[in-house]
Amino acid sequence: MKKFFKTPMKANEFIIKDLELKDIEIARKLHNDKSVLKFLTDPSRVSKIQQSKWFLNLAESSKSFRLIIFEKSSMTFIGIFRIDQLDLKNKSVVIGLDITPKQRGKKFSLKIYHYLLRYIFKMNINRVSLETLETNKIAINLYKKLGFKKEGRLREAIWRDGRFLDCIKFSLLKKEYLDAKNF
Ligand SMILES: CC(C)(COP(=O)(O)OP(=O)(O)OC[C@H]1O[C@@H](n2cnc3c(N)ncnc32)[C@H](O)[C@@H]1OP(=O)(O)O)[C@@H](O)C(=O)NCCC(=O)NCCS
Repeated sequence: MKKFFKTPMKANEFIIKDLELKDIEIARKLHNDKSVLKFLTDPSRVSKIQQSKWFLNLAESSKSFRLIIFEKSSMTFIGIFRIDQLDLKNKSVVIGLDITPKQRGKKFSLKIYHYLLRYIFKMNINRVSLETLETNKIAINLYKKLGFKKEGRLREAIWRDGRFLDCIKFSLLKKEYLDAKNF
């Protein structure tokens, strides 16, 4: 199957690789962290069996990919980048990034997004989109800082802790990103 990303990538202080079978437990642990689950549309914990099945499907997919990111000098785990709904006909993709709790607040997400956005736009993708819960203020600040534009609000799309929350949709176009040159 043709790969979208040419890995491993050496990006300044990071090594970025395809998620492999040996990495799925580290990815599951991050997914199941309370700070990540609370911002997902489905906040259920994932079991080892579910994770294995998910990985088998992922390995077969031509539209979804996962990258695992390490700090280069120490090989410390930093996070997982996701790319879904790769649509080469319409040149669009849905992305996302989770940073492991210990490594947050160090501007790693900004550096990783800038590196991978440049890569994605060079691959002739025109539109990148993502969505987040209205309560995820850190992610909303991050997406605005990267130049994403708010596209809309899925009103009361999520039932969480006894109340409905809106889901906010953002997108970024190649011309906007490259013209802004804020990387
Ligand atoms: C969202 C996430 C990827 C951001 O990564 P991070 O390492 O925490 O953030 P960074 O240190 O790279 O900061 C990037 C920007 O995010 C925003 N940000 C980071 N920490 C913040 C905080 N405590 N309060 C408000 N905004 C914050 C800022 O805009 C910041 O840029 P600035 O400091 O130059 O203004 C990370 O917090 C995370 O994985 N959270 C849990 C899972 C999640 O929410 N994933 C996204 C789902 S849509």
